[in-house]
Amino acid sequence: MAMFAHSSRIDAGFLTARPSSVRTAMATLSVRDARREDCKEVRRLIQELADFEKMPDGPRIDEKDLERDSFDVKPPLFYCYVVDDPNDSSKLIGYAIYFYAYGALTGRKMYLEDIYVTETFRGKGVGHMLFQKVVQKGVEMKCVDMDFVVLDWNPAQDFYKARGARDITEEGSWHLYHLGNDCLKTLTGKSK
Ligand SMILES: CC(C)(COP(=O)(O)OP(=O)(O)OC[C@H]1O[C@@H](n2cnc3c(N)ncnc32)[C@H](O)[C@@H]1OP(=O)(O)O)[C@@H](O)C(=O)NCCC(=O)NCCS
Repeated sequence: MAMFAHSSRIDAGFLTARPSSVRTAMATLSVRDARREDCKEVRRLIQELADFEKMPDGPRIDEKDLERDSFDVKPPLFYCYVVDDPNDSSKLIGYAIYFYAYGALTGRKMYLEDIYVTETFRGKGVGHMLFQKVVQKGVEMKCVDMDFVVLDWNPAQDFYKARGARDITEEGSWHLYHLGNDCLKTLTGKSK
């Protein structure tokens, strides 16, 4: 299945266009930094996203991997924002995972790995808040742009395009390449 690579120039003006919290019939929802104890819930939502994206193998990481790579390793290999479930304080309803990258031509950039809102909370502005928070962080960190990939059938492409993202695969110049784990082992002569 083809993936389309998207690129979004970070525009500080866009950030003020929408509120940073959403009031539902139940509560005000807001975005916060993930904590170590959120990793189990983040892992559960990663599974939901993998199911949504029809990934045959699903996630190959567990909550311990998430804890290690975001809270034990310095600097963290990824960062995560989450939104609490207003009906159940032990649960999360959405998350965004991002990390920093570097463009040889442009300098500091961000990579948005995942953004996800559980089905019953979609369409209430939660995804917008998560996206806005990641973009805000990128601007603070002096990143100049942000990349991410979207499956070709996913209507979330419209969500991104409405925020100014361009489909750089469709534009014909960039294709995302991937070197699988088997290739890594073969190339390095490692059996595992
Ligand atoms: C994409 C996603 C994160 C958006 O979160 P959300 O909370 O539903 O979005 P919001 O309520 O903040 O919507 C903000 C705007 O985007 C639009 N929008 C949201 N999801 C959309 C979608 N899937 N397709 C088209 N438009 C969408 C909304 O209509 C709204 O438009 P408006 O600003 O004109 O009112 C969420 O729908 C989701 O988790 N989808 C499933 C997982 C997924 O596809 N993740 C992205 C993987 S690349």
